[in-house]
Amino acid sequence: MGTFTKILLSAACVAFLAARWTAPRFDAESLRGARVLVTGASTGIGEQMAYHYARFGAQVVITARRDKVLQKVAEECLRLGAQKALYVAADMASESDPDTVVDFALEHLGGLDYLVLNHIGPSPFSMWEGDVEHTRWLMKVNFLSYVQMAWRSLASLEQSKGSLVIVSSLLAKMPSPFVAPYASTKHALNGFFGSLYHELAMKKSNVSVSICTLGLIDTESAMDKVRGYTDVPAYPAPERAFDIIVTGATRKPELFYPWFPRALILNKEWFPSSQTTSSKTPTTTRLEF
Ligand SMILES: NC(=O)c1ccc[n+]([C@@H]2O[C@H](COP(=O)([O-])OP(=O)(O)OC[C@H]3O[C@@H](n4cnc5c(N)ncnc54)[C@H](OP(=O)(O)O)[C@@H]3O)[C@@H](O)[C@H]2O)c1
Ligand SMILES: *[C@@H]1O[C@H](CO)[C@@H](O)[C@H](O)[C@H]1NC(C)=O
Repeated sequence: MGTFTKILLSAACVAFLAARWTAPRFDAESLRGARVLVTGASTGIGEQMAYHYARFGAQVVITARRDKVLQKVAEECLRLGAQKALYVAADMASESDPDTVVDFALEHLGGLDYLVLNHIGPSPFSMWEGDVEHTRWLMKVNFLSYVQMAWRSLASLEQSKGSLVIVSSLLAKMPSPFVAPYASTKHALNGFFGSLYHELAMKKSNVSVSICTLGLIDTESAMDKVRGYTDVPAYPAPERAFDIIVTGATRKPELFYPWFPRALILNKEWFPSSQTTSSKTPTTTRLEF
């Protein structure tokens, strides 16, 4: 090994270790009493996030459409140690519900420390055949309601030096077949909240923005969709939910899990022609989430 290579490698090691040591540590105590609103919390990753916040003694408001399911999740939150667990049923396709939910949380918790935006409307896993209405609807649920809730919460988050946590997907970075409307909504999220991140930094805002980019997670709805289409590994929801919470609590701008598709994304940016999908083999197409 040449001297130059050695120096380069040592510098890379030092930079890596320095980044590790100086990275903010997660302090579970910081979540005790924290005022948290989690959306899409009746099932899946949202439900697991609510349970984690509950175990850390937070005060949570959860929302989704199904009243009865939310009630059960809220009861479980109390059992796990939440200081408060309230729920409010709402449809994020509605123009007024996103505001109503934020107002409910602000009123009952007296402000917000974490706004965790996670809900998604159901969308088919299939070739896009011109369903413009579904695409419009999904854009409202998966994207516009996020924008609306973030804006409605911002003043309170400024006051509390709070955090905005956005749950996104690898499909925000690598478009794949059968998910055109869903992938669009996730691209929109990354674009919007990526810009907002910079604008808040320019304004020296107190609010942190974390964008969480996840691969395939073993939630019921996701596994139902992709069964028979892909053999990429699905990661357990409770662990990923925990990662998201830590990312928000340590105010990191980004969570990327798993890490390796990042290399594929870079490869795609640099060598676009290497990514053409074969039209003959829909079932063996590489699908990422
Ligand atoms: N699972 C994965 O493989 C994966 C991969 C990458 C990223 N993600 C992201 O992780 C997040 C959670 O995914 P998940 O798999 O946990 O989803 P999920 O289990 O399908 O949960 C979706 C949640 O959104 C709620 N919801 C659906 N439509 C709604 C509407 N119109 N208004 C309000 N709430 C609505 C659902 O409850 P109700 O039916 O009661 O309304 C449910 O609580 C999403 O942002 C997703 O994009 C997931
Ligand atoms: C940031 O928080 C402090 C209180 O800790 C507050 O005085 C200040 O107004 C906040 N900044 C903004 C932009 O709201």
